[in-house]
Amino acid sequence: MSITFSPDSRTFYLDGKGVTYAFCINEYGYAEHLYYGSAIGHDDLRAMRMLGATSYRTTPPGRDLNTSSSYGDINSYHHFPSELSFFGTGDFREPALMLTHENGDRLAELLYVGHEILPEKPRITGMPSLRGSETLVVHLGDAVNGFGCDLYYTVYDDCGVIARRAVYRNGTDHTVMLDRAYSFSFSLPRNDYELISLWGTWAKERHVERTPMHHGVFTVDSKRTTSSATLNPFIAVVDPDTTEQAGSAYGVSLIYSSSYALKVEGTSDGQTLVTGGINDLDFRWKLGAGEVFETPEVMLAYSAEGIGGMSRALHDAMRSHLIPPARVHQPRPIVINNWEATYFNFDNDKLKAIAQAVAGTGIDTFVLDDGWFGNRNSDRTGLGDWFVNTEKLEGGLSTIIAYVNSLGMKFGLWFEPEMVSEDSELFRAHPDYAIAAPDRARCYGRHQFMLDLTRAEVRDYIVDAVNKVLHENHIEYVKWDYNRNVTESYSIGRPADQQAEFAHRYALGVYDLCERIVNANPDIFFEGCASGGARFDPAMLAYFPQIWTSDDTDAEERTYIQYGTSMAYPLSAMSCHVSVVPNHQTRRVTPIETRADIAHLGATGYELDTSAFTDEDRARTAAQVEAYKAMEQLVLEGDLWRTEDPHTSNYFGFMIVSKDKTDALLTAYRRMGSVNNEVKHLRVAGLDADKTYRVSGFEGTFRGSTLMQIGLPAKLPKGDFLTATYRFTAVD
Ligand code: DGJ
Repeated sequence: MSITFSPDSRTFYLDGKGVTYAFCINEYGYAEHLYYGSAIGHDDLRAMRMLGATSYRTTPPGRDLNTSSSYGDINSYHHFPSELSFFGTGDFREPALMLTHENGDRLAELLYVGHEILPEKPRITGMPSLRGSETLVVHLGDAVNGFGCDLYYTVYDDCGVIARRAVYRNGTDHTVMLDRAYSFSFSLPRNDYELISLWGTWAKERHVERTPMHHGVFTVDSKRTTSSATLNPFIAVVDPDTTEQAGSAYGVSLIYSSSYALKVEGTSDGQTLVTGGINDLDFRWKLGAGEVFETPEVMLAYSAEGIGGMSRALHDAMRSHLIPPARVHQPRPIVINNWEATYFNFDNDKLKAIAQAVAGTGIDTFVLDDGWFGNRNSDRTGLGDWFVNTEKLEGGLSTIIAYVNSLGMKFGLWFEPEMVSEDSELFRAHPDYAIAAPDRARCYGRHQFMLDLTRAEVRDYIVDAVNKVLHENHIEYVKWDYNRNVTESYSIGRPADQQAEFAHRYALGVYDLCERIVNANPDIFFEGCASGGARFDPAMLAYFPQIWTSDDTDAEERTYIQYGTSMAYPLSAMSCHVSVVPNHQTRRVTPIETRADIAHLGATGYELDTSAFTDEDRARTAAQVEAYKAMEQLVLEGDLWRTEDPHTSNYFGFMIVSKDKTDALLTAYRRMGSVNNEVKHLRVAGLDADKTYRVSGFEGTFRGSTLMQIGLPAKLPKGDFLTATYRFTAVD
């Protein structure tokens, strides 16, 4: 890993694991992108620059250069591959920055002022980011007025990821309105790539969509004041012939939990500009003289080993540098959660029966989900009243906790800290705590309102109320839920010209809560959740080592959801439960073995009414948990190879391979059985070609090369929705 500056060519070379990223300060002082891809030498790359098609090319301000020659000097901001695109001075692409000065000037011309290489990576104030060390900071400034921008770059020797962000500095003598303040831009040298995004909705999160890019701007975004289930803050730019296992793939993953935009612009001069950050749709930030605005960080991942290689780079970056280090490598709680077993209808006896039935099976944590507090007997009431409902739970939380602990299990509890019900003591006492705009009625979402996290006193209430429960009870696990999106974004008490700061301030409010509740309770394991996976983003992973992936627990549907989620997130981040059939969401019936095999491809758990478990059910559950324990290290630390794609075939396949390639597991799933003639070799990937392996279920030993070339003949019995698992153990 290194950051090098070559003074002669004024070029920065960032060398990470397998990647080089290079840009120069060109003859106009412009930060010009030169190269991003597989590792290369430090040659003078300026000789490789190429001018594409031109249309009404303009010079940099004040320089009447020759702009008529189509092969002349590259001398237009519009045509320079960009490290930060800005508006109004000859660049007609998507700007990363738009601003309004006091006098109405909306232009920017941000040129090189200097740079420094810091030994330690600075943290972003109030926002999560990757950990790291050596960091390049390039200072750009507008000579006309002193407005500045610092570009931050960090590279890593253990993953092919570069962390980038921008910090905007108001060095003028007046207040500036930031109308758009994106985190980054970079350019790619062609405009015929394909784009992969993760779309979804409730119970259908992160489905993969691949589409050719086009001239113009392709956007993935959220306008929901959260990262959302509808489009994940991730996009991949790949060559048209890139596959799972081969070809160039660039991944862009934003560490942010509010409205965002990621844009890929195919320009008519033959380039691609990638840019993005906080969504400027409803954003205007008042930046006083001397103030700075820090933008969220983006992870840029590159791999020449296809889409799978890009995913593995992101997985490594998140596991090594983002997810809480004390948690990420540790075996996870294996939970029994009562939600699908009881919904709101439970009492001590019912909960005890559910917990007692699985004691001794290896399930080690009982999680009491929604409905334990206030007058919460349905989803219409009680949110915000974080005190126990003693009608349901006689003796308070301590009774059920003591019982669960007496079984040798830990106790976990559900909260939805950001919300309030209209029918709640909190709302009756502080109706103003709920987000509302003057003279307008509020939208309801799941019958509830949202608390205004942009206000310190509201956050203080939440922190005190939640921490009180956590401190007064022996709670070792928390599920943090979030079940609607912001509407009427408006904050009482904030001046009119700062109301459009709401969406970003909401994110800062969420992170503040996480610091003061999650990080302040280091002995408690926290899991994120948002009606399933509607806030499954890297920033949340900085607090929650795992997130509930989807409310859809049907094994068939989960193959798509977990496949798509794995594009950008490690398996250990995905919370997955074995549930009952017919499945509560789809009514589909799948075998219990299949449900377990698919749930075991993440942080596994159980969510069904175990109170009626037979001895056979208990024994089967114990065997499943034991099998999970035997593969857990692979789930936590292994490299993922997606071997079969459910979007395009009758199969789903995940192969997880230990870093030293001595141990691997293939989980294969076939959707529909057929009566006759199934000829299928399951793909095998990621092994060491030169090692020899034993494969469970097969006689003899095989070279890695043999296994990866031929695959394994599928040995699935007749039937639909069936799985098979194969363990690979290196013998030399
Ligand atoms: C939505 C979550 O995704 C579910 O798992 C459950 O916790 C419910 N909320 C409870 O209201």
